[in-house]
Amino acid sequence: MALLVKNGRVINPALQTDDICDILIDDGKFQAVGKHLQADGAVVFDASGLVVAPGFIDMHVHLRQPGQSGKETIASGTQAAAAGGITRVVTMPNTDPVIDKAIIVEGLKYKAEREGVVKVDVIGALSKNQEGKELSAMGAMADAGAVAFSDDGHYVESADFMRKAMEYADMLHKLVIDHCEDGSLVAGGYMHEGAVSNELGLKGRPAVAEDISVARDILLAEATHAAVHIAHISTKNAIDMVRRAKAKGIRVTAEATPQHMILTDEALRGFDPRFKVNPPLRSEEHRAAVVAGLLDGTIDAIVTDHAPHTWEEKDRSLNLAPSGFVGLETSVGTVLTYLYHTGSVDLTTIVRAMSTAQAEILGLDAGVIAVGKAADLTILDLHKEWVVDSGTFYSKGKSTPFDDMILKGKAVATIVDGEIVMKDGEVLR
Ligand code: DOR
Repeated sequence: MALLVKNGRVINPALQTDDICDILIDDGKFQAVGKHLQADGAVVFDASGLVVAPGFIDMHVHLRQPGQSGKETIASGTQAAAAGGITRVVTMPNTDPVIDKAIIVEGLKYKAEREGVVKVDVIGALSKNQEGKELSAMGAMADAGAVAFSDDGHYVESADFMRKAMEYADMLHKLVIDHCEDGSLVAGGYMHEGAVSNELGLKGRPAVAEDISVARDILLAEATHAAVHIAHISTKNAIDMVRRAKAKGIRVTAEATPQHMILTDEALRGFDPRFKVNPPLRSEEHRAAVVAGLLDGTIDAIVTDHAPHTWEEKDRSLNLAPSGFVGLETSVGTVLTYLYHTGSVDLTTIVRAMSTAQAEILGLDAGVIAVGKAADLTILDLHKEWVVDSGTFYSKGKSTPFDDMILKGKAVATIVDGEIVMKDGEVLR
């Protein structure tokens, strides 16, 4: 049945438009975009006072399948995405087994078709078993639909391996995504190395670990002419280097998470493992640099690094708890509250970073509201106040540093291929 989204403020960065208008959807595709549209028999969604954006994408998500379904599944993770206003997630390969073969990519795509509430794309590992030694079956995985390659969770230590991986991925017209933290510098560290870690007497993970690895990857991208994407960038120097590399025409892009734009290492003072994440929450200087990087286009994308763990695993002391936490159900709210409502970042930049830019980086036919394209939309109420309650999350992961926070702004509907899969926080599939 046709769906008519009426009177919303449609922000469409791909076409550089921001206007009150209607959107007619049928057969899963946009049929018309304009003023005063009519369609007999169509279901009408009144978007008056709401923002209508191209479907939000999250290109850095851990759905934990195969092998870790106690932490998350395609079903629970995509429900969480729908609840958070995300229409498409891209899942990372640090699973058990690692996603390093075509058959695993195929299996996940098959499962996602059946169990996914939102769209799922798969990132294949760069190396077999993510050991950083032998190239994975990248060609076969690309044929099976892998959209990019990464050893996320682990830094690719060998420059020689990384160079080959970039060259090979580039032949396949695929992107390499790197988790940039030099292992020798971060070994045994639990938080950002700085004044707070010194005061607490905790071993830190220094910013220079990220800087060195980002520098190497940029130099390799320049030498190979391949594209590299820096995952969850978090340091001032790394951002400066990406800024300069982009100005030189090197094919580098970068993403940042809400946590690295909102929180700092001060949060670790209570030794609370909910704040443990890699790369770590850094000092104010770095946090401000991440926001500045987003504003000037150095940082292209806002992603969550949604990293669910079981409560038993996460509810341990800081040194024993695993790194990472969930983000799919809080990213829109935290970004709107702390970046938009504070006047730091404008809405078009946010929509581009949460949708359009990610589609461009990965070469996905998405991130734009245009006739004939798949009708994926995220509808936002900028003024809705709500309190984060991890107990109500659809995700199996309940650990979030944002628990109990009062937020302003929320996705109130998620539309995938023309179907409303979430309305007012309730997932309908
Ligand atoms: O804190 C993290 N956890 N950072 C990552 O890059 C990986 C993630 C995970 O998979 O748990």
